[in-house]
Amino acid sequence: MCLYKPSIRSSSLEMENRVLLLFSLSLSLSLSLLLLLDLSSAQKPGFVSLDCGGKVNFTDELGLSWTPDDTFMFGETSNISVANETRKQYMTLRHFPADLRKYCYTLNVISRTRYLLRATFLYGNFDSNNVYPKFDLSFGATHWSTIVISDAYTIEVRELIFLASGSTVSVCLSNATTGQPFISTLELRQFNGSIYYQQFEEQFYLSVSARINFGADSDIPIRYPDDPFDRIWESDSLKKANYLVDVAAGTEKVSTRLPIDVNRDEVPPVKVMQTAVVGNNGSLTYRLNLDGFPGFGWAVTYFAEIEDLGPDESRKFRLVLPGSPEVSKAVVNIEENAQGKNRLYEPGLTNISLPFVLSFRFGKTSDSSRGPLLNAMEINKYLEKNDGSLDGRVIASAISQYSSADWAQEGGDPCLPVPWSWLQCSSDPQPRIVSILLSKKNLTGNIPTDLTKLTGLLELWLDGNLLTGPIPDFTGCVDLKIIHLENNQLTGGLPSSLTNLPNLRELYVQNNMLSGTVPSGLLSKNLALNYSGNINLHKGSRKGSYINVIIGSSVGAAVLLLATIISCLFMHKGKRRYYEQDHIVSLPAQKLVSSKSGDPTEAAHCFNFSEIEDATNKLERKIGSGGFGVVYYGKVKDGKEIAVKVLTSDSYQGKREFSNEVTLLSRIHHRNLVQFLGYCREEGKSMLVYEFMHNGTLKEHLYGPLTRGRSINWIKRLEIAEDAAKGIEYLHTGCVPAIIHRDLKSSNILLDKHMRAKVSDFGLSKLAVDGASHVSSIVRGTVGYLDPEYYISQQLTDKSDVYSFGVILLELISGQEAISNESFGVNCRNIVQWAKLHIESGDIQGIIDPSLHDEYDIQSMWKIAEKALMCVQPHGHMRPSMSEVLKEIQDAMSIEREAETVREGNSDGISRNSLHSSMNMGSLDLGGTDNYLSIDESIAQPAAR
Ligand SMILES: *[C@@H]1O[C@H](CO)[C@@H](O)[C@H](O)[C@H]1NC(C)=O
Ligand SMILES: *[C@@H]1O[C@H](CO)[C@@H](O)[C@H](O)[C@H]1NC(C)=O
Ligand SMILES: *[C@@H]1O[C@H](CO)[C@@H](O)[C@H](O)[C@H]1NC(C)=O
Ligand SMILES: *[C@@H]1O[C@H](CO)[C@@H](O)[C@H](O)[C@H]1NC(C)=O
Ligand SMILES: *[C@@H]1O[C@H](CO)[C@@H](O)[C@H](O)[C@H]1NC(C)=O
Repeated sequence: MCLYKPSIRSSSLEMENRVLLLFSLSLSLSLSLLLLLDLSSAQKPGFVSLDCGGKVNFTDELGLSWTPDDTFMFGETSNISVANETRKQYMTLRHFPADLRKYCYTLNVISRTRYLLRATFLYGNFDSNNVYPKFDLSFGATHWSTIVISDAYTIEVRELIFLASGSTVSVCLSNATTGQPFISTLELRQFNGSIYYQQFEEQFYLSVSARINFGADSDIPIRYPDDPFDRIWESDSLKKANYLVDVAAGTEKVSTRLPIDVNRDEVPPVKVMQTAVVGNNGSLTYRLNLDGFPGFGWAVTYFAEIEDLGPDESRKFRLVLPGSPEVSKAVVNIEENAQGKNRLYEPGLTNISLPFVLSFRFGKTSDSSRGPLLNAMEINKYLEKNDGSLDGRVIASAISQYSSADWAQEGGDPCLPVPWSWLQCSSDPQPRIVSILLSKKNLTGNIPTDLTKLTGLLELWLDGNLLTGPIPDFTGCVDLKIIHLENNQLTGGLPSSLTNLPNLRELYVQNNMLSGTVPSGLLSKNLALNYSGNINLHKGSRKGSYINVIIGSSVGAAVLLLATIISCLFMHKGKRRYYEQDHIVSLPAQKLVSSKSGDPTEAAHCFNFSEIEDATNKLERKIGSGGFGVVYYGKVKDGKEIAVKVLTSDSYQGKREFSNEVTLLSRIHHRNLVQFLGYCREEGKSMLVYEFMHNGTLKEHLYGPLTRGRSINWIKRLEIAEDAAKGIEYLHTGCVPAIIHRDLKSSNILLDKHMRAKVSDFGLSKLAVDGASHVSSIVRGTVGYLDPEYYISQQLTDKSDVYSFGVILLELISGQEAISNESFGVNCRNIVQWAKLHIESGDIQGIIDPSLHDEYDIQSMWKIAEKALMCVQPHGHMRPSMSEVLKEIQDAMSIEREAETVREGNSDGISRNSLHSSMNMGSLDLGGTDNYLSIDESIAQPAAR
């Protein structure tokens, strides 16, 4: 890792590189004049501003010239209208079908030159669907970003800094997971000099994460013409939720009107450098979210001394980054480092691992009379280049003669992120083209000989075209299995080189103008060969025998078809087996008592009532109760402990339905779901038997009697969240049909001997609703955890579980109950409202469980808090999936573990958690049962039907 030291950018090695670069740049500068002639509509050389979906050329109020993308042949255009958005380029967009293809823009660039590429997306409900699209954006073969639209009026912006390695670059939209992919603008800005040179630029792009102008005069970002490269410098006064919070007391703006000498390094705009913040109490602190992180990044700070220091005054300070004590060794003295007042000094960390939530501090040294000063900063993430298919150049050359055809203009990499519509590729990291499917495309001329260089080719379909000339030598494509050249105008002989293809199974050349004899090596039984309709092509000395071959070939095709079917079946089986290994644990229930033969519910073990009575000592020890019934402790003969849930008697009538549902339950196995061991239905009672969980419910550990004196620590809470999320994810994605829990809550998350968590009561809501009452429109769930959207609409989706899980995450953070009359202040009974208020205003300390003391990392806490808020968004489609939530929890865990090591090893002064909760967290009365809710239709939705 590089150290934060002033000399970083003048190391001798780098100097050498820069000299080299200057040479190559002077070369490209002369080339840029050529580009100027090329793009006469772009006033500013090296700028391209594409108004997607636009119709006319225009110049905007910044003086940038926009051109429409009207020559682009894919997609459709839409006009949109968004309140307060008057910029013409945001009144149109281009959208694409949500299919399996990619749609690529190709832009001309100068090789070995650095550019800023900006793509923006303003949804504006263009399809009148209010379905917020989600799709992938790639830069050539490299996955750049996933665009997730979360409302109709916010512009999503992605920026990338790259060194061009060829004469074009492409930007592609693909993989529509929701809605239709679309794009509003595409902007290319050329840099000059060695601006944004970085030592990894051959392997990595820079994905722009934050570019901040401190002490800004207004909320309006600074860009062109103040920045000649049209970078967008966000104002630090812009108050987005969680964007630049935790500002230290004593932070003040300063500014100057004097010119600043900025002509070095990244050449920030003078206007950005003329403002700054100063920490008058000795510190500057900030916390911000870094999109795309955690990961490795390139971070620089821009300083210029713009205040007048007296002869006896000095300004010296250090950067303090939590977790990176080594960076705080270097002392910044701007005026000295920059060799003068009003001059740029740009120290940076060009290869540093950064978290998603970055907290940093500049603190003055003890011998400094002034506090630290900061003009601007920029943080970019390294994005690893994907070099794409090995066949990229060859296929581009092969199709160059058809450049006016639609199919030849798909752009981007032939295989990545998805193949061109007429290709298939292997799934290697650097894919190869395996199939070419160009039947009936009106191809003229000779078969491109470049095709014979595609060494991974398995299938070639060029039938039904107007191809002329000879069949080239395909010896280099040793894996070729299938060749279709029929119905063309090919001439010459059938090359004997075709006999060199060991895997050739299908060769169709009928209805051409081929001549000569068929090489005897091709007349084997294993080859489906059709050469009919070539008047001058003969099989050795005999004539007219091709009929046999045709029959042979159709048999061959049938065999092929069969083989395909068999391999599909095989794959299917293989997949299932994998599934089972992954998720299914063996069921010890079978060992408890031998199963009754002939029982329709053979998969679910049926216990005798007498066995249950023995095991539970006649339902002696009650260990819990919930919405579905009372739970008793038991121990069967071989010593295994069980939990018997006696279902509330009035809800379950039909024996058939009960058995069906129980059978379903018995098929669900996952290490994070409480194991179902069997059932019993006798004496008018329905009972479900589960494994016994020694450590009770999560609820008891968070704020029940078990918390006294030993509350569970933060990493343990994260582990519990991870376990539970895995269990729920399995219900949502691992079961067919998917199972929606409907009643997730902290009292349904149980803990085993080792404090690993399992989810309980899954499948029961369905049992209660569909199995017995036949009223499918009853809203079920627990007050405080119930998804408000489901409550109103009665449309149940897996996102209702995500809502409830979000509430559980908030409980884990705060140690508060989901619903409370006292804890959340006046007019607030609900943990969601309360937590939202605090988190959104940046005050996370206000909700953190005081019993965690300071034993947690604030960044992992933020991660969970922010995800929890996403989970409790009012609308299901705005909430993440359980898989996404799980990933976030795991990220938070690794942050926490790392921080834990630092905490243990080093108690040195990284400032954390200095604030303490001002909330009253007095102990709560908990005794009662859950507020289980069962609202009938007439209450839940008075106006419906
Ligand atoms: C926009 O300007 C370019 C360059 O002057 C020109 O080639 C193009 O035809 C113009 N397009 C429209 C729609 O006016
Ligand atoms: C969008 O607006 C332009 C000009 O106002 C108009 O010519 C065009 O037909 C509109 N397009 C659509 C799809 O409505
Ligand atoms: C949009 O403009 C109107 C009128 O100028 C103003 O009242 C409103 O606050 C603006 N809305 C936003 C979101 O800026
Ligand atoms: C498509 O998007 C989904 C969801 O974002 C993602 O899981 C999947 O990997 C993507 N597929 C490809 C081929 O990139
Ligand atoms: C091929 O040409 C014919 C006749 O010009 C035309 O009707 C057909 O659409 C063309 N096919 C393709 C795939 O371009």
